[in-house]
Amino acid sequence: MAFKNSQEKTLLSAHISVRYADKPVLRAVQLKIQCGEVLGLVGQSGSGKSTLAMAILGLLEKKRTHTEGNIRFQDSELLQLSERELRALRGRAIALVLQSPLSSLNPALKIRTQLKEAWRAHASGTSEECMTAIRACMASVSLPSDDEFLRKYPSQMSVGQAQRVLIAMAVMHRPALLIADEATSALDVITQSEILALFRHLNRSTGMAILYISHDLASVAGICDRIAILHQGEIVECGTTEQIFTNPGHNYTQRLMAAIPRVLSAGANPQRKSEAAAAR
Ligand SMILES: Nc1ncnc2c1ncn2[C@@H]1O[C@H](COP(=O)(O)OP(=O)(O)OP(=O)(O)O)[C@@H](O)[C@H]1O
Ligand SMILES: [Mg+2]
Repeated sequence: MAFKNSQEKTLLSAHISVRYADKPVLRAVQLKIQCGEVLGLVGQSGSGKSTLAMAILGLLEKKRTHTEGNIRFQDSELLQLSERELRALRGRAIALVLQSPLSSLNPALKIRTQLKEAWRAHASGTSEECMTAIRACMASVSLPSDDEFLRKYPSQMSVGQAQRVLIAMAVMHRPALLIADEATSALDVITQSEILALFRHLNRSTGMAILYISHDLASVAGICDRIAILHQGEIVECGTTEQIFTNPGHNYTQRLMAAIPRVLSAGANPQRKSEAAAAR
């Protein structure tokens, strides 16, 4: 893999606790993301996954939350940065893709206008340079970049196309880290697998690290190098995807594994086949 060696370098290292009012949501969570890796963050609804993403992006409401600890990203301590410094970082060095593409895009603006805004947020140059960057970005997410397509409004696209437009905006400035928070959860299974393949392709072709957040352990298996399991605000286990699937150590991970629907007669996975044989 082109960027495999860069994975030995730590890109982000977090050790944080977060409380909403008196309610602890993240308890001394320790997480490391290596340069160029895809790290899955898996846990059930309410376990604190989005809170961790928001903490990394500096988007937790300061008045209503209490955050302790540190988040080291490249040469910066994120919890010490001013709002201005964070704004310069968000969308450029760390980008975010959320669950519902059609509600993340502005329905009243053509996608060309929204792509231009995303480019101008962190770059300056002529219209021509902007359009060249936009067309390159659209090509990188396998979308057309002709004027007819760029003149569309979000409602004139499929959900899968809208998610690709959002991903194009997110990767426009070549972030070192992309956070995908349930980015495929609202998609049908075929579109979901196409978008997962796109994330993997972008990771391999650019070396961008991805924090891939999902409640669904099965869906992350195909793209993650490592998986961290979050349970009630604590990381209970972190290991390579193979370790998590073949030898889950924590009781909660074992329960997540047991909850994955299995098709006994057609298991492509040898472990599943032997389980299926044993169950007969
Ligand atoms: N702004 C807030 N004020 C108070 N409590 C909050 C706030 N946001 C989240 N919480 C609480 O923090 C806990 C963690 O929420 P979070 O959204 O991080 O979970 P999650 O793992 O992302 O869940 P999901 O899979 O449903 O997206 C939940 O109990 C939630 O109710
Ligand atoms: Mg969430």
